[in-house]
Amino acid sequence: MIKLQEIAAILLAEEIDFAELSKATEGFRTLLLEMSKLNLKDDSLRNDVHTSEGMAIGTEWAARCVDDMVRTKRFVKGVAEAIEHQLNLGHKPVELLYAGTGPFATLVLPLLTVYSPEELQLTLVEINDVSFKAVQGLFKSNDFSPYLRALYQADATTLQLDEPKRFDILLSETMQYALQKEPQVAITLNLLPQLREDALLIPEEISLDLVAIRQVGLGVTEPTALAKLLVISRETLTFSPLWESTATSFPPVDYQLVDDDLAHAQELGISTTIKVFGTQHIGFNESGLTIPKRILNVEELPAGKKTISCRYHLGAKPGLVSTIT
Ligand SMILES: C[S@@+](CC[C@H](N)C(=O)[O-])C[C@H]1O[C@@H](n2cnc3c(N)ncnc32)[C@H](O)[C@@H]1O
Repeated sequence: MIKLQEIAAILLAEEIDFAELSKATEGFRTLLLEMSKLNLKDDSLRNDVHTSEGMAIGTEWAARCVDDMVRTKRFVKGVAEAIEHQLNLGHKPVELLYAGTGPFATLVLPLLTVYSPEELQLTLVEINDVSFKAVQGLFKSNDFSPYLRALYQADATTLQLDEPKRFDILLSETMQYALQKEPQVAITLNLLPQLREDALLIPEEISLDLVAIRQVGLGVTEPTALAKLLVISRETLTFSPLWESTATSFPPVDYQLVDDDLAHAQELGISTTIKVFGTQHIGFNESGLTIPKRILNVEELPAGKKTISCRYHLGAKPGLVSTIT
């Protein structure tokens, strides 16, 4: 069986070799299931947790996130670049807070073959009972336990950290495309203000744009950005009315469509792009996290209606709500 060390080397490679990455991903999934003793056919793995800030996906779906190859590669490499950045600044060990680990702490596990416990310490947070128990079991092993600073079964949208200034990196991947349904934004808004100003956020930036989508080949689409709808980063959140406040929606963004915008497009939609960290980005349609969310087919646009208003809401069903007037 492929070893975690070999998987790490493939995930950390500069270039993507899809054949090699596909083999490594399959090997990684097999290894994770074997180490955690999870059986994906077990019904208890399918329970989502619904909170007032969004849905925490069930263990099976969280486990299957590993299969989104480009996502997993870019996140693991981005996390490694953030660890290097903090080590170079003299933070040793680098203290990483991982909110929403799923059953395997997938996005950091391969890095435990690269860094020593003197260089990297982990604080893990997971809300789902089955996922929490799985990750707890995994970190009892002699290989991984030296890296574990703390492990909480808690809701990361409300968790108050005991020693928030300890952390050098906040990592969370609790999102779907268009930042809908899952609590990525609420988790970031709860945890980031508790940390030091120089603590790094991963993903560093998530952008949602209003886009005109054009078919350019069989199954190949190309977006043209029309308006920036939301940017989630340390910089934008610090200046947002939602920073350390109880507001539940971001300011609306209105966009006046002109005929040129739609001249060659078939659809209007929302694109998601992610700067993970450093050199690592996930572009339009590269991963399940960045597929476009359709708003409407251009031919369905009601006559005379030309202003699109979009507003991102937090809450039990987070996401962008758009209206056309
Ligand atoms: C999309 S999965 C990603 C799992 C893993 N981090 C990965 O990237 O492969 C998100 C995980 O975050 C957990 N989660 C979602 N909302 C949470 C919350 N409010 N507090 C703690 N964990 C949460 C879910 O239960 C799920 O295990």
